[in-house]
Amino acid sequence: MMRVGVLASGSGSNFTALVQALDREGSPARVEVLICNVPGARVLERASAAGVEALLIDHKQVPSREQFDEAVAQALIDRDIELVCLAGYMRLVTPTFLRRFPGKVINIHPALLPSFPGLHGVRQAIDFGVSIAGCTVHFVDEGTDTGPIIAQAAVQVLPGDDELALAARIAREEHRLYPAVVNAIARGQVKLEGRKVRLQEPL
Ligand code: GRF
Repeated sequence: MMRVGVLASGSGSNFTALVQALDREGSPARVEVLICNVPGARVLERASAAGVEALLIDHKQVPSREQFDEAVAQALIDRDIELVCLAGYMRLVTPTFLRRFPGKVINIHPALLPSFPGLHGVRQAIDFGVSIAGCTVHFVDEGTDTGPIIAQAAVQVLPGDDELALAARIAREEHRLYPAVVNAIARGQVKLEGRKVRLQEPL
């Protein structure tokens, strides 16, 4: 069973989707811990409702980015976490953190990368006027949403879509795609070759 840790800062709908999907029979992975950096974030309630251990590590209480990431990494290592899923985690991870989990940190982004990285991906796509939006699961590297792409799902932009409506349709795809990627990684079906990712089975 692959032990998964989730890092999140906000609402946590992807956290819940991961917990529920990985809880199903036959899933080779399981969410063992949530780490949240924002006191009062809804994801903390979701974790207690789901019976998943939740740790609050408030970055404002830690003097430096390095020390913060060190505390997060240590909590994950203490729990033998093998795969780290960022899910609405509003912090850049340090190179030191990534070196502790080489090739083991993934993220979900609400746009078809490399378009619209960074904050407000859905709003950026609407403002730009694209007709196809979507989401991307990728390995995390030192940049912002620049790591190797594992999987993407496309979502049509409908006339009259505002950010909220489009984000809700993208979220449905996120909730399907993210657990599918985690299961594929746990089954050893995801191979990183340079900056390209090879999937041994379609998701
Ligand atoms: C999602 O849109 C995800 O793609 C992005 O942040 C959002 C998190 O939403 N990285 P939630 O907290 O999982 O509901």
